Amino acid sequence: MVERAEIFEVGPRDGLQNEKRLIPAADKIALVDLLSTAGFRRIEVTSFVSPKWVPQLADAETVMAGISRHEGVSYAALTPNMTGYARARAARASEIAIFASASEGFSRANLNASIAESLARMAPVAEAARRDGVPLRGYVSVVTDCPFDGPTPPDQVARVAAALRDLGCYEISLGETLGHGRAESVDRMLARVLDELPPERLAGHFHDTLGHALANIDVALARGLRVFDAAVGGLGGCPYAPGAKGNVATERVAAHLAASGYATGLDLAIIDRAASLARALRGDGHV
Ligand code: HMG
Ligand code: MG
Repeated sequence: MVERAEIFEVGPRDGLQNEKRLIPAADKIALVDLLSTAGFRRIEVTSFVSPKWVPQLADAETVMAGISRHEGVSYAALTPNMTGYARARAARASEIAIFASASEGFSRANLNASIAESLARMAPVAEAARRDGVPLRGYVSVVTDCPFDGPTPPDQVARVAAALRDLGCYEISLGETLGHGRAESVDRMLARVLDELPPERLAGHFHDTLGHALANIDVALARGLRVFDAAVGGLGGCPYAPGAKGNVATERVAAHLAASGYATGLDLAIIDRAASLARALRGDGHV
C-alpha cells in the first residue's frame, strides 16, 4: 500500500508576508481559491498580527472574507495574542496557530518578547481556542540556526515544543526558519524533540536558502514525520530573519514525495498553475 504524506500549504501566509510590494487582496484571494482546488487539507491563509509589524498582511479580514471555502479544507491563520485571536474568530478562521521561538534573539526580533513572555502571552489564546473548540497548531522557529544567536541547542527546541504541546497544540511545526540547517543538525534536533512528542504530532517546516530543504525532509521522513509545510512557488522568507530565503516550494516537495513513493493527494497540474501565479505575484514570473 502507498504511504501517505501531507503538504500543509503556507504560501499565502508565510510566503506573502515577506514580499516587498503590497499584493492586492484580490490576488491573494485568487491564489487561495486556486489552492483550494488542489487537494490540500490545510491552507494557511494569513496572519492576524500587528499591521505595524507585518503590513503585507494588514488585509487579513478582507482576504478571509473573500475566499471561497471548500468543504474538507481547513483555512488557518496565525495569531500572536488575544487581539489576533478575536480577529481570527470574527473572520471565521478554521484553525489558528501560535508561534514561539527556540532562541531568545529571534523571539525578541519576531515577537518583541522573551520566549517565556511570548508563551505566557499565548496561553490565553490557547485557552480561548480550547474553550471555543478551535483547533490549535504551534510553530517553533529557528530550530537549528538563529540569525542572532547562532546554532540552536536541540534541548531548547524540545523545551519550547513541549510547552506548545502543553498549551494544547494538536501538531507542532518545527521551523527551520533560516534555511541553513544540514541533515546532521536536523536529525540531532529531531532525535531530541521526539523524546517529547511522537512523529504524528510533528511537522517539518523547511526553508531552502542553501538548497538543503529536500535532504532535510528526507531526514524527517526517516524519523517518521509525514507532514511538511511548503509554499507554492517557493514564496517567502521571514521579515524578522535576515538572510532567510523562501520556504521550500510546494511543487518540489510534491514531486519529491511522489518520487519517494508517498501519495499526497495533490493535483500537480493545479499546483504548477498556483506556483506560476505565486511567482507572478512576486513579480518574477508569468501567470
Ligand atoms: P508589540 O509592538 O510589542 O506589542 O508587538 P503591542 O501590544 O504594543 O502592539 C503594538 C501595536 O500593534 C498596538 O497598536 C496594538 O494595538 C497593535 P497601537 O496602540 O500602537 O496603535 N496590535 C495588533 N493589531 C492587530 N492585530 C494584532 C495586534 N497585536 C497588537 N494581533 C506583537 C507584539 C506580537 C503584536 C508583534 O511583535 C507582532 O505582531 N509580531 C508578529 C510578527 C510576525 O508575524 N512574524 C512572522 C511570523 S513568524 C514566522 O514567519 C516563522 C514561522 O513561519 C516559522 C518559520 O518560518 O520557521 C511561523
Ligand atoms: Mg516559514
